[in-house]
Amino acid sequence: QTPVIAIDGPTASGKGTVAQKVAQRLGFHYLDSGALYRLTALSALRRNTALDDEHALAKVASRLNCHFDSGHIFLSEEDVSEAIRAENVGNVASKIAALMPVRQALYGLQLGFHRAPGLVADGRDMGSVIFPHAVLKVFLTASVAARAQRRYKQLIDKGISANMQDLTNDLSERDARDTHRSSAPLKAVEGAYLLDTSALTAEQAVEQILGWYAL
Ligand code: CDP
Repeated sequence: QTPVIAIDGPTASGKGTVAQKVAQRLGFHYLDSGALYRLTALSALRRNTALDDEHALAKVASRLNCHFDSGHIFLSEEDVSEAIRAENVGNVASKIAALMPVRQALYGLQLGFHRAPGLVADGRDMGSVIFPHAVLKVFLTASVAARAQRRYKQLIDKGISANMQDLTNDLSERDARDTHRSSAPLKAVEGAYLLDTSALTAEQAVEQILGWYAL
């Protein structure tokens, strides 16, 4: 059976970086499921789809014409790797991710990433809903302060001005939305290894996960 490693956790916990490195080290495929919600958000914004029309949004999600190629993300052949990281796209993604029809519409697309020799899947519900049979489930967390600090550094490095208080508020809001929604709320599933990365480098987190995988 082709193995899946599920890595779930809250926003800015370092999941993306860590999951990609684990995939690289093992020579596995990588699924950035958050990117699919972001692609749906971007596509909906561009089509002026009403953001409260869950069926129209689900249709956008089910018809996403996207592909992933060496770290770049394409929507109908356009490289949108940068565009989907915009703050407003992330906010819309977080809102539409609470809608069950949207989540269902993205289900099959996510399963399609499960290919030999293996998959590292990064998201909120990888271990609970999409790949419940994952051989290893990791719940990656970090304190709000550590996550706000990381996001701050990312923005400053990109030359974007940022404010710690705003970032902290935004993170807490997103945590609340992800945790309290009725469809696939964010939580550590039974059997998941908890990894608090507040005081770890990405490399250290990667080593820990590879260590668990080797068990
Ligand atoms: O930047 P951030 O970590 O917040 O987001 P992301 O991982 O790129 O995902 C964008 C949004 O999609 C998040 O705010 C989540 O609410 C949602 N999401 C989800 O509901 N389920 C997933 N498996 C992945 C992301």
